[in-house]
Amino acid sequence: MNTNVDVNEIVQNLYEQIKNSEDKGSLASYIPELENVDSALFGVHISTIDNSNFGVGNCYDKFSIQSIVKVLSLIMAYDLLGEELWTRVKVEPSGTPFNSLIQLEVENGIPRNPFINAGALVIADVLLSNLKNPKEDFLNFVRNLSDSKDITYSSKIASSEKEFGYRNAALCNLIKSFGNIENEPSDVLDFYYDLCSLEMSCEELSNLFLFLANDGFTLTERKQILTRSQTKRINALMQTCGFYDESGDFAFKVGLPGKSGVGGGIVAVHPKQYAIAVWSSKLNAKGNSYKGMRFLEEFTTKTESSIF
Ligand code: DON
Repeated sequence: MNTNVDVNEIVQNLYEQIKNSEDKGSLASYIPELENVDSALFGVHISTIDNSNFGVGNCYDKFSIQSIVKVLSLIMAYDLLGEELWTRVKVEPSGTPFNSLIQLEVENGIPRNPFINAGALVIADVLLSNLKNPKEDFLNFVRNLSDSKDITYSSKIASSEKEFGYRNAALCNLIKSFGNIENEPSDVLDFYYDLCSLEMSCEELSNLFLFLANDGFTLTERKQILTRSQTKRINALMQTCGFYDESGDFAFKVGLPGKSGVGGGIVAVHPKQYAIAVWSSKLNAKGNSYKGMRFLEEFTTKTESSIF
């Protein structure tokens, strides 16, 4: 980060600039409930490892974090299975859309990475097999990572997604046919939809993800969530796979590990410096927030804080 710049002023100015610009994105219509979100809402929040916090716009409004949850479910599954996890899911970028089926057939039901839907379904299966009360245990895990205890699932979003979840059902059944899903596909899908329905604000997200900028330790209580090496690995996966077939573009333009969701949220991490979350619900053609991507590109350029 260029220490001569005022980061908060940059966040504020970029926020005004991008808020008032044309939004060329569109809402995620395949989850009907997400189409009811006001697309004028826009929030940004940055948390640094020096314990400074700054937010603008709708940074305290909760939204559906969708695929951002895949980072958290992966971390919990990694903790439960250790290195054995990588026999169930690989760590290679897919270069395909988040809900693609193509590689699964030729790669024997082992998903390319834990962030595409196929990989996240395998992770959900691991959690189902290894937790006593998967839904409650996962929620407690997330709440323990966060300073905020009022994080919840949305049953409205989960059932809206389930109603039209034909593609995820196809993915889950295909993986099951290769023997890489242990539980009943309908149970895995229900749990997966619950996970994706988690709601958080930009403030909660940037605070929660700060441990990935802080060598695996939470900032306030210094609880160790991951080892330094595991932290590097999660950040590496976010860098290479966090935006599906737009991961290269995100590295090229923004230059930070990050993860997006079809609710329009993006969280990005600068190891040893900060975590930042942005939210604007309209998505580009790859399913990532249109304004969120633009904001982060300008932000790392103006603050000179890409990792590259
Ligand atoms: O399974 C789905 O399609 C959604 N619950 C999550 C997809 C998602 O967020 C992709 N991210 N940009």
